[in-house]
Amino acid sequence: MESLSIRVFGDPVLKRVSEDVQDIDGALASLCGRMFEAMYQAPGIGLAAPQVGVSQRFFVYDYGDGPKVLINPEIVESHGEWEYDEGCLSVPGLSWNIVRPKQIHIVGYGLDGEEISIEADELESRLYQHEIDHLDGKLLLDYLDDDEKKKAKKILREMIMGQGNNDSSGPGRVQFP
Ligand code: NI
Repeated sequence: MESLSIRVFGDPVLKRVSEDVQDIDGALASLCGRMFEAMYQAPGIGLAAPQVGVSQRFFVYDYGDGPKVLINPEIVESHGEWEYDEGCLSVPGLSWNIVRPKQIHIVGYGLDGEEISIEADELESRLYQHEIDHLDGKLLLDYLDDDEKKKAKKILREMIMGQGNNDSSGPGRVQFP
């Protein structure tokens, strides 16, 4: 099976708000399997469905203790502030110091349909917040001020166009807004 390509800045799917997952079934499980492949290959510690072109509310991740999936995730509580130099597979090569809540309580469902409840701090907390942003159509660039954003867009456009000629990813190629 062809491996999934990770969508990058400029692809409209990254700006869409995803829909709740209605059925946790075999098709979802097999898509998650392919997403793990793409995530490990990148390599990254998390990958949200919109990053592979699917506007549904789930993400895969591996925070060092094996592959996991969180479906229809929701942050029910958050505390504190924590700044961290944050990057994203869909915004390749760039990162910024971004302030987010330090601790969160997040709930959702696993692939077995069982409810999941996690209290997370610092990097683990940030991972979940970052992936939920993807489900809400939000990228790191949305946290920047106008000047930083302009600079970042210029770098990304040049970088992505530079790779354009040998990009064989077919439909879903980068489009420039
Ligand atoms: Ni990301």
